[in-house]
Amino acid sequence: MEQKRNSPGLVNSSQARVHPNLERQVSKHLESRWMQPLHRPSIQTYASLKDSGALLEGAPLILDSGCGTGASTRRLALQFPASTVIGVDQSQVRLAKSGLSQGFQREGNCILLRAELATFWRLLRGDGVTLQRHYLLYPNPWPKPGHLSRRWHAHPVFPHLLALGGEIEMRCNWEIYAMEFALAVSLATGADVSPKPFQAAQGISPFEQKYLQRGQELFVVNVGREVTRSFFCARSSGGPSG
Ligand SMILES: C[S@@+](CC[C@H](N)C(=O)[O-])C[C@H]1O[C@@H](n2cnc3c(N)ncnc32)[C@H](O)[C@@H]1O
Repeated sequence: MEQKRNSPGLVNSSQARVHPNLERQVSKHLESRWMQPLHRPSIQTYASLKDSGALLEGAPLILDSGCGTGASTRRLALQFPASTVIGVDQSQVRLAKSGLSQGFQREGNCILLRAELATFWRLLRGDGVTLQRHYLLYPNPWPKPGHLSRRWHAHPVFPHLLALGGEIEMRCNWEIYAMEFALAVSLATGADVSPKPFQAAQGISPFEQKYLQRGQELFVVNVGREVTRSFFCARSSGGPSG
């Protein structure tokens, strides 16, 4: 379906191609240790999740990072009944739509949790947790060129995101974000990763559903678990862990 240029929800950016500083930014984050303090409320929530034993049950872990209302987390929990699926978002307003006000809530193999992701990912890494799958569904695009370092692939936390392992699936509606994400993974891992058009009959999440209804083009980047595994091994044997 043809997209209308100024259709609501289309990413509007003055950036027409991959950001010229992306490569430098990714290299910098790979070579240095990120020292920013952790987000305190997220530490507490993570501690209560750990105390509940949810991370020690032996079931493979799937993360739905930036899960919004948690609708996609519930769908993934049904799709992968032998795994524990954890949806994480910082937005109280969005999570409240699933009944979560503070901390975390669990229904069967589906956990919804309020936390800041850069902290949550670092805490998981610190405990040596690895993932089966990692979904990043429609991350905030941060379309202004000056906001490059807020996009996950140019953020200092990016090496942690990759080292958490598992099969990564990132979906978005901005082709440049998808191109940058794929390029950043390729630069970090040496793997040949590229974005693909993504089609679905029904949206897995509210944002995906909204974009599908508007006939917008969607993109997906898939990173195989062998790629993140090699990255993890290389980091564990000498690379900066921070
Ligand atoms: C565009 S929405 C997509 C929500 C959902 N995945 C969907 O597809 O409907 C991006 C989500 O990421 C969350 N988010 C952005 N940055 C975050 C961060 N640093 N920590 C936790 N959540 C974050 C926002 O609160 C928001 O719910």
